[in-house]
Amino acid sequence: MTPTKPTETNAQGLDAYLDANASRNQDELFDFLRIPSVSARSEHNADTARAAEWLAESLRTAGMEAKVHRTEGHPIVVAEWRGAGKGAPTVLVYGHYDVQPAEPLELWESPAFEPTIRDGRIYARGSVDDKGQLYLHVKAIQAHLATRGTLPCNVVVVAEGEEEVGSEHLPGFVEEHKGLLAADVVVISDSAMFAPGSPSILSSLRGLAYFEINVTGPAVDLHSGSYGGAVVNPAMALARILATLHDADGRVTIPGFYDRVREWTSVERDAVKRLPFEEAHFREETGATALGGEKGYTVLERLWARPTCEVNGLLSGYTGEGAKTVLPSKAMAKVSCRLVPDQEPAEIERLMKAHVERVAPAGVVVDVKHLHGGRPWRNEPSGRFVDAARRALARAYDKEAVIVGEGGSIPIVGDFERILGAPVLLIGFGLPGENAHAPNEWMSVENFHKGTQAITAFYEEIARSATP
Ligand code: BES
Ligand code: MN
Ligand code: MN
Repeated sequence: MTPTKPTETNAQGLDAYLDANASRNQDELFDFLRIPSVSARSEHNADTARAAEWLAESLRTAGMEAKVHRTEGHPIVVAEWRGAGKGAPTVLVYGHYDVQPAEPLELWESPAFEPTIRDGRIYARGSVDDKGQLYLHVKAIQAHLATRGTLPCNVVVVAEGEEEVGSEHLPGFVEEHKGLLAADVVVISDSAMFAPGSPSILSSLRGLAYFEINVTGPAVDLHSGSYGGAVVNPAMALARILATLHDADGRVTIPGFYDRVREWTSVERDAVKRLPFEEAHFREETGATALGGEKGYTVLERLWARPTCEVNGLLSGYTGEGAKTVLPSKAMAKVSCRLVPDQEPAEIERLMKAHVERVAPAGVVVDVKHLHGGRPWRNEPSGRFVDAARRALARAYDKEAVIVGEGGSIPIVGDFERILGAPVLLIGFGLPGENAHAPNEWMSVENFHKGTQAITAFYEEIARSATP
């Protein structure tokens, strides 16, 4: 099902229009969410392509000219509305229509691709990351074009289907289509608010270097009685390697790892200390019994200002019911480093490989593969578009926006700045505990609608800031 024409209304105002179309907008989002556009899984390639077509059609319905660009991977959707003319600024909206795999399915309370509302939340894979946050931009653009037939600036929307697998083809596409995507500001909603009711603008994102470490020992699994003790065990070898990654103070011990880390200034640290953050509340949100991390830093500094090295997955030997006495032939770990300015993914890759090679025990073969990476980003939000966003958020939420950091990564952000020479404005409408990438992902119904209002207001505020 493709998006239907909006409800005709006599009301002139944007707010009245959004109210009149609220349930329709939500129904359409549900259709978007029903498409299992899991970019990591080739069996979902047709679904991912279908999501791109669906999105392009919804952008056309909103009043834009949309095209689906094929790539070697998943398609990139670009839509344009240039009715404001050459003298007016151009806003580039970025989002991603791909989603993470939904497994483990048995932990979902309602099916991952059958959006369901419970307790004011839309539960579905991709609800908050990023379909709901992308779609509210489409609906804000539509609100302007449907009620006024115009927007105060040119708008280009670019949506990719590979964000969750490392955005392999997007940087090249941006480079190749610099003219098409040229903009005065890039606006992205693919993050969370600091707290419910507290609109937030991001000042940082961490980067990423993601590895797979494979340890191979004997040619096949061996009887652990007949061979154990005399043959090097790959699982133990891997455990030893992983145990060398941190010291007792939670610092990463890969030589050179911190060399390029730009320490936060005392001003930046003080600003973060002023945010209303409750450690106990954060701990409860995670379900962990205690928090941990690098000594000498607060929780928010550990999340936003410090790089990390984490195991994301482990596999080896017998993991079924009961006992099986076996010496596994191989072991594998997925390990990722979150990076901060000015660490470089390529350099971290080199350091990680050298370190693992150095500490690898004899008797096993160790291979480190770099799967994907992305640069960190940091920028103090300021300027005309940030001011417009602040006013718009204050209108929609009746509360001033806070400037916050973020521990997650959106690798393309740095590329946008570098290639297009445009500042990036990150306004998230997710919430803490939203279960992104996990079972029971949700987006707040209220934030879907308030987010739509806020972005609608953002365009009005851009117009206001243009008049001297
Ligand atoms: N939307 C997230 C980024 C994000 C995460 C923003 C948490 C705010 C809070 C994005 O879709 C994502 O998941 N990024 C990946 C990186 C990518 C290279 C797989 C991430 O951060 O793991
Ligand atoms: Mn995302
Ligand atoms: Mn994600």
